[in-house]
Amino acid sequence: MSNNPQQSREWKALQAHAKSMSGTHMRDLFAKDPDRFNSLHLRTDGLLFDYSRNIVTSETLKMLVDLAKTSDVASWRDKMFAGEKINITENRAAFHLALRGSGERSVKIDGENIKDFVQKSLGQIESVSAKIRDDKNITDIVNIGIGGSDLGPRIVYETLQSFNDGPRIHFVSNVDGARITTVLKGLKPANTAFIVTSKTFMTMETLTNAITAKDWAKTTKNFYAVSSNTEAAKAFGIAQENVLPMRDWIGGRTSVWSTVGLPVAIAAGFENFKTLLAGARAMDDHFREAPFEKNIPALMALLAIWYRNFMDFRTHAILPYAHNLRKFPAFIQQLDMESNGKSVDRDGNDIDYKTGPIIFGETGTNAQHAFMQLMHQGTDIIPADFIIVKNPDHNLDDHHRKLNANALAQTQALMQGRKKADKPYKKFDGNRPSSTLLLDRLDPWHLGMLLALYEHRMFVQGIIWNINSFDQWGVELGKTLANEILAPGAHPTADQTTLALMQILEE
Ligand code: F6P
Repeated sequence: MSNNPQQSREWKALQAHAKSMSGTHMRDLFAKDPDRFNSLHLRTDGLLFDYSRNIVTSETLKMLVDLAKTSDVASWRDKMFAGEKINITENRAAFHLALRGSGERSVKIDGENIKDFVQKSLGQIESVSAKIRDDKNITDIVNIGIGGSDLGPRIVYETLQSFNDGPRIHFVSNVDGARITTVLKGLKPANTAFIVTSKTFMTMETLTNAITAKDWAKTTKNFYAVSSNTEAAKAFGIAQENVLPMRDWIGGRTSVWSTVGLPVAIAAGFENFKTLLAGARAMDDHFREAPFEKNIPALMALLAIWYRNFMDFRTHAILPYAHNLRKFPAFIQQLDMESNGKSVDRDGNDIDYKTGPIIFGETGTNAQHAFMQLMHQGTDIIPADFIIVKNPDHNLDDHHRKLNANALAQTQALMQGRKKADKPYKKFDGNRPSSTLLLDRLDPWHLGMLLALYEHRMFVQGIIWNINSFDQWGVELGKTLANEILAPGAHPTADQTTLALMQILEE
């Protein structure tokens, strides 16, 4: 049987169904079914998922679930939970689940017992974070890393502001010297520790920033490294006991659960880090056990597929109504676009259907005063996830009520549009889909759930699209070319424009 999802009966049925749905307005679906919200929302462990404001009927949902079934999502999910090497192009497992205590307990990867490795890593995170938190000389930590070695710990650190009682953490990712200069300007070497976070310990941006930091500190005494390339970290000058290993089966964009999460444990304490893992584990259990009809990440993925492949919507917005989640859209951009931005399938064939959409986002209410006009009245339809929080971690209730009122108003306006108006330019049709995730509070537990939820959503989409979500060959090409441009001598691979601009830059 072909692995091209378009060949399946379920895909073809959905194509026909999408045609028959043309002209369906959510206003009518709500009018016909006063119970629509009740039927189309789910709750699990302090998280509510409302998907009533999507352009779907119960038939659509059933057909999408059938697509998941025929695409073998369940057996791929089992392979991931069993630590199998599902990242085929790199011959690696994608076993970040093990880091939070999910997945098969007795898995060995390349001869190593994973349970033992995870236990040891947790022990290291606990002892190193405690040592740094207890050292009253250390007031500031600089995490040097990029991509997954930056975004994961950064989003957790920023989101858990009210839990952070350890040293301040600064995140340096960009190789633009302006960033590290600004960060170091406010710091003193005696009071600063550095964590060089790089799975490969080969990433140009990270190594360049690390060398600048070492020159500034004049010693590597307060340097720590998180890497699977422990030899390179030691060769850089970092003491063996300060090198925390990771492994190649931990993908960069799903690495916050590993030793990469060290800054989180330093800032918020090891207990909060463990609670983050527990929240993710609860979502893993839900993903593994709930039937697709009631499975939040699976349904989110299926809705995304419905819009991308059957309605030809090209973008997806992530709109957290929580200031501390301001980096969340950037985190999801990496998680989703680096994973599912693919045009070759798992069998090496060129793909002739759409895969990952463009993801963008911003916090509410700021987004309302920036790009949401286009979401309401523009010519593209942009499905959106609204993320709202029930209990704030401050006592400004008036602010919180206004914040959430705005989120509800936006989802309603997107759906209903405005039918009656005194002027034609004030009228618009609505029917713009959105889902709402309501978290009880923004604490380590719920944040762990939220991050794991989006990981599984990404995974399900990748399986249905028959792509490998765990490699990133496009990014690798950019890294190689940058190194070639920097190399002295002739540049046989540089094209005409690159050569001309190089010359101008060097004049
Ligand atoms: O952006 C590409 C990428 O390979 C990411 O997947 C990874 O998180 C990032 O580079 C950083 O890589 P490393 O941790 O090896 O420095």
